Amino acid sequence: MGYRVVVAGATGNVGREMLNILAEREFPVDEIAALASRKSLGTEVSFGDKTLTTKDLDTFDFTGWDIALFAVGSDATKIYAPKAAAAGCVVIDNSSLYRYDPQVPLIVPEVNADAIEGYKAKNIIANPNCSTAQMVVALKPLHDRARIKRVVVSTYQSVSGAGKAGIDELWDQTKGIYVPGQEVAPSKFTKQIAFNVIPHIDVFMEDGSTKEEWKMVAETKKILDTKVKVTATCVRVPVFVGHSESINIEFEDFLDEEEARDILREAPGVLVVDKREPGGYITPVECVGDYATYISRIRQDSTIDNGLNLWCVSDNLRKGAALNAVQIAEVLGNRCLKKG
Ligand SMILES: NC(=O)c1ccc[n+]([C@@H]2O[C@H](COP(=O)([O-])OP(=O)(O)OC[C@H]3O[C@@H](n4cnc5c(N)ncnc54)[C@H](OP(=O)(O)O)[C@@H]3O)[C@@H](O)[C@H]2O)c1
Repeated sequence: MGYRVVVAGATGNVGREMLNILAEREFPVDEIAALASRKSLGTEVSFGDKTLTTKDLDTFDFTGWDIALFAVGSDATKIYAPKAAAAGCVVIDNSSLYRYDPQVPLIVPEVNADAIEGYKAKNIIANPNCSTAQMVVALKPLHDRARIKRVVVSTYQSVSGAGKAGIDELWDQTKGIYVPGQEVAPSKFTKQIAFNVIPHIDVFMEDGSTKEEWKMVAETKKILDTKVKVTATCVRVPVFVGHSESINIEFEDFLDEEEARDILREAPGVLVVDKREPGGYITPVECVGDYATYISRIRQDSTIDNGLNLWCVSDNLRKGAALNAVQIAEVLGNRCLKKG
């Protein structure tokens, strides 16, 4: 016996990956519904070797459905997630709407799967920001060994993190640069993204940081440990899929780079590719379609007593969104909504 599963936002970048991953991991599905906005009514999307026809989220009745994976953005989530939850369907949401709600667990299964029981308060579970998800997968095993005091992270985030419109803008702008008369002005992004980098993701906060940077701070504390200090600089780069991060970590205890490498090799969700030779590290194009969070360039930071540097790369549509949501559904199924 399986679950009746809804994917809301099934025509989007994350929603399509959710369908792929549910099929790939053979999530026990008895029935599945693909939902999007009214304008996409009837659009076909793939689910394994099946084709689903999308239905309208606005008129969908969630009664009798077990789990709804939401990837529709905060505005639509605000309207429809409470409806689904009230109908008894557990929502696993990808937007930022519920992430900081103390009554909603924010989960990365490799790090804090035990928080799952908290879903009962609202029938909602939040999925973290893509940059946070991959970073905490890397930090957790190191924190368990040497207690992290402070993290300094700079991100190199792909345009797919800004939805379908982000991918289209990089594609069209890149082509347009070479074709006179077909230049594409910035619209989704604040400045030209083709052949450029932009140190601004989401809105500015009062202290001069951006909301994306604030999210990494707040979410790391909620998922990993409230005592860990994080300072982030988030940058959009002209990469289609795959977020990269340069992470500097200060620990309470000394942690040798060799031991850190061994710990990360054993850690769930992590693959270490770290040869000190040309090409002995992972770049975003190599992580696309994978589940792993890749760690490379592990090295001591000799400017502080207990410091390490590393490079962290993962598929933002997978570990950063769809895979993490499906992993949460797996934990929910195994621990809380047992069937059969
Ligand atoms: N991309 C990432 O790396 C990433 C990572 C973590 C979290 N997230 C979050 O995941 C969510 C989806 O992101 P995405 O990248 O998949 O965006 P996207 O490619 O732009 O897709 C958005 C999806 O939401 C649907 N939608 C939007 N408004 C709707 C409404 N009012 N009613 C019904 N459906 C609606 C769209 O349907 P139509 O096609 O019919 O418009 C589409 O299926 C966002 O909250 C985002 O912040 C994204």
